[in-house]
Amino acid sequence: MKRAFRGRIMTASSGGEGLRYLDDGILVLGEDGRIEAVEPWTGPPNGVLVRDVRPWLLVPGFVDAHLHYPQTRVIGSATGPLLPWLERTVFPEEARFLDERHASAVAAELTQRLAAAGTTTAVLYSSSNPTATRVLFEALARSGHRAFAGLTLMDQHCPDPLRVDADHALAACAELVRAYHGHDRGRLSFVITPRFAPTCSRALLEGAGRLAQDHGLFVQTHVAENPDECRAALAVHPFAKDYLDIYDRTGLLGERTLLAHAIHLSPDEWDRIRDRGARIAHCADSNFFLGSGRMRLADARARAIPVALGTDVAAGRTFDVRRMMSSTYDNAMCLGDPITPEDLFRLGTLGGAEALGIARETGSLEAGKDADFCVIELAAYVQEPNDVLARIVFSSDTTPVRETYVRGKRVVGG
Ligand code: GUN
Ligand code: ZN
Repeated sequence: MKRAFRGRIMTASSGGEGLRYLDDGILVLGEDGRIEAVEPWTGPPNGVLVRDVRPWLLVPGFVDAHLHYPQTRVIGSATGPLLPWLERTVFPEEARFLDERHASAVAAELTQRLAAAGTTTAVLYSSSNPTATRVLFEALARSGHRAFAGLTLMDQHCPDPLRVDADHALAACAELVRAYHGHDRGRLSFVITPRFAPTCSRALLEGAGRLAQDHGLFVQTHVAENPDECRAALAVHPFAKDYLDIYDRTGLLGERTLLAHAIHLSPDEWDRIRDRGARIAHCADSNFFLGSGRMRLADARARAIPVALGTDVAAGRTFDVRRMMSSTYDNAMCLGDPITPEDLFRLGTLGGAEALGIARETGSLEAGKDADFCVIELAAYVQEPNDVLARIVFSSDTTPVRETYVRGKRVVGG
């Protein structure tokens, strides 16, 4: 029997600026896991099993555009800034992913945490280990999340257990593409993932660029997160005129490139990001935790560069994309360029999907899209749409996610 949810509904919509809010609405699920209708409640439809969740709220599942699967267990390790934190906290933990049992246990934890936060789409860095990356894809296929995930590429300036030479790493990527890219009716994608310029040789970057082009894959990497990192990147790649140029000259900068952080960039680099059509993953909480600096969101928005939000676990301290909306607000306020709660909600849902090129499939509650959504607990006394929005964006601990659905299937219960 067809199913539907009755409740309050809030969503961004394709082609519309503001948000749509229904005080009493119905979300009808089709039998194929897609959304059949989102309408004001007018009475029970025939032949549909309706679940009434009022006064709770239905929203689209959140889009986390940047996080690290092998860092799931090291959240809150205060050994920053970036380069010492990588040495002291991240690299030793990522080396543990040579052990398949550890990889499996953490992959299960990760998918649970995503669901508990209401995240239905995630863009993930794996470790540099191909087996751990398979384990990750298998866990995502089981949970049903929409995900982009990639083998983290590094062939220099990192500890031996994490180093994989360019030929081996790129061959492993090609195998993972064959095994998982486009699987689960297109919900799983392989993403080419050079960790960042300092840990990648020029040959590895160029090979990664070719592979991305040959298969039409997304590329993700870190750029200009920290001043010491920027200096290290240019010391390792003296052929480049600036940090962005390293990725540009090695064929990694294009319309399917997702750049994380983008804090210490010149206006000229920002212009090149726009000209190449690349996208930004904004990781405000991580930037605070590692003291990396403040990303000027206004620089991206002024150029109409697509921006998504990333928790950047484990430099980010939570899997909760709504906490990223909130810290994105703080970051923008401190820079004197405030952003509205409507825009923040959009960035964490449909805006993220747009930046990833998947807005026709997910990111909002609209007929025809996958039924990727969550049910949020909301007190009946919160009634004004602006108050509802404020709770969702700024107060996730008072409005917890109770249920998360990917393509109409429940992935976590409360
Ligand atoms: N730059 C290179 N690797 C990483 C990482 O794992 N996390 C963050 N925040 N920045 C990086
Ligand atoms: Zn990161």
